[in-house]
Amino acid sequence: MITKDTIQTIIETARVEEVIGDFVTLRKRGVNYVGLCPFHNEKTPSFTVSPAKGIYKCFGCGKAGNPINFVMDHEHYSYPEALRYLAKKYNIEIEEEEQTPEQLQELNEKESLYSVSAFAQKYFTDRLNNSEEGKAIGLSYFKNRDFREHTIEKFQLGYSPDSWDAFTKYALENGYKEEYLIKSGLTIDKNGKRFDRFSARVIFPIHNLSGRVIGFGGRILKSAENKPKYVNSPESDIYNKSKVLYGIYFAKSAVISKDNCYLVEGYTDVISLHQAGFENVVASSGTSLTTDQIRLIKRYTPNITILFDGDEAGLKASFRGIDMILEQGMNVKIVMFPEGEDPDSYVRNHRSIEVEEFLTGQTRDFIQFKTNILLKETKDDPVKKAGLIKEIVQTISLIPDQITRSVYIKECSVMMDIEEQTLMNELNKLLRKKFREKDKQVIPVELHDVYEFPSEQKLSINILDTYVLEKDLTRILLNYGRQKLKLNQTISDDQKEVIVENVAKFIINDLKSDGIEFSTKTYNLILQDYDSFLEKDEVLTDNYFVSHKNSSISSTATDLLLSKYYLSENWEIRERIFTKKEDDNLYDTIYRLLIRFKDKKLDQKFFEIETKLREEFDDNKRIELQKEYIEYKKISMEINRQLGRVITR
Ligand code: GTP
Ligand code: MN
Repeated sequence: MITKDTIQTIIETARVEEVIGDFVTLRKRGVNYVGLCPFHNEKTPSFTVSPAKGIYKCFGCGKAGNPINFVMDHEHYSYPEALRYLAKKYNIEIEEEEQTPEQLQELNEKESLYSVSAFAQKYFTDRLNNSEEGKAIGLSYFKNRDFREHTIEKFQLGYSPDSWDAFTKYALENGYKEEYLIKSGLTIDKNGKRFDRFSARVIFPIHNLSGRVIGFGGRILKSAENKPKYVNSPESDIYNKSKVLYGIYFAKSAVISKDNCYLVEGYTDVISLHQAGFENVVASSGTSLTTDQIRLIKRYTPNITILFDGDEAGLKASFRGIDMILEQGMNVKIVMFPEGEDPDSYVRNHRSIEVEEFLTGQTRDFIQFKTNILLKETKDDPVKKAGLIKEIVQTISLIPDQITRSVYIKECSVMMDIEEQTLMNELNKLLRKKFREKDKQVIPVELHDVYEFPSEQKLSINILDTYVLEKDLTRILLNYGRQKLKLNQTISDDQKEVIVENVAKFIINDLKSDGIEFSTKTYNLILQDYDSFLEKDEVLTDNYFVSHKNSSISSTATDLLLSKYYLSENWEIRERIFTKKEDDNLYDTIYRLLIRFKDKKLDQKFFEIETKLREEFDDNKRIELQKEYIEYKKISMEINRQLGRVITR
């Protein structure tokens, strides 16, 4: 147990901006720092860190807390894990109260499992290095595989003796409870008899993100007696196979710095590559990748390179699984190893520089790779080729980002010698279908923080750019265009009238009355479409835009309508709360957006006039310009008053 004093020291020492700065790129803004929130998808920063208060808060998703909360949330640590992490970061020595047998019992379930796993790892490592059997069999095996001492130590490799129950006995003698030995899978209970799961195997401990042991893989040494080559720990409260990647703890910082993650199949591939200096490597441990594992990598990089050691047939079989990675918005590359080689054997048979050259030389973009492989098969068969188009476009349609999709469409159209438009049509067909399917589900909405964010937002790079606001207004039009707003209209000083108007009409009329248009072409086309139908007293449905003949409109509309669906899958409850918020205050949301949009437009006007003034030397004309300036200034002040801002200009 960590003492209260130590906890206090940690709290006093940890600086919120330093702790978070290790995971999020923060930029100073006034007295605070801001960055992109690591807890939800966003493109404009709403994640704010206050060094003065020692806290962080995301104005987008609402996550907030102190450094300990952050580490717990971000790294999925328990409270003691978070404390240990911070203590390590700040070189604070942890004072622990000695664990008496009674305290051991008190530890909660998870801690008990961690505790017994750590104990087992130490035991296996000790047996490897300090027992005759371990040295003769285990250590020499690792040495034969060219694992260096430092590597063996780093990965905490071990050996479990050839015995029925040597470990189980030893653990019981040391006060570890049978219950947890069994729950962790280290001990197997068969009709009341207890024996070791991993006997006579070399041991690969599996670490979680904070480096604690949560499970084991054990490899058999003799190519023996119809026993499986590897035995793994079963799932437990601390070991969830679908959420862990072997090696992630050791790979983490290299993945960030290299901005890429190599994915291999086995324990030994990870270790050999790591030892050869390619530290950004993790293994799925023989199973296909899960969504959780992909997201785990995505926290550190959007780039993944799969090192594939099977044959082409095997690779084809894994195409579907790889599509899933694309669906998560990651860039996927592939390296095929020569037949009969896996990353481990390749590294052992080549010098580091050769491995480096091989990896850079053989890395292929997944979609291009897939297209090529399928293309080879369909050569002169038009029917097969049609199938290929569908297959490739299906893959491309999974990519969440519109721009990336169109880049691939372009590339593939060249590779397959097919008109880009043909592929585009096929793509839009698929996206529409997907859209219709999702349409039946509940729709939480992505909340943009633009309206709530403090005025410091103005420091963003192009302060005159209205793109974000136009995008948001278009998003609101598409999502809520037909929804009704109740508006208070002032008829005279003491007379008010409530009128009901739909959102589309409200927005369009407001913009029209000020003679403002969108400067982004596609958004403006959507705006004009709404307008022309409003004149016939019709409000367009989002389906109209999704199936629009102009493919730029249809894909933009699909994107704006789909973005929330992606979120709805990833961020269930949180966003739903926000949906309510945006819906509840729909009028307020729209009103603020419009005001901010006009404010930006005014900024553009000021900039325009100032530029003219600089080049205008005719006094009369200068006075005209200055008058114009003052008129706009008045409007601007009114807007700022409505936004509740202090004017600093
Ligand atoms: P070496 O043969 O020692 O080089 O190990 P490897 O990691 O290259 O093994 P291989 O390529 O055969 O398998 C890749 C991964 O699949 C392993 O690291 C294990 O995680 C898993 N695996 C392989 N064989 C078995 C098995 O028999 N049982 C289980 N549960 N997993 C296995
Ligand atoms: Mn191997």
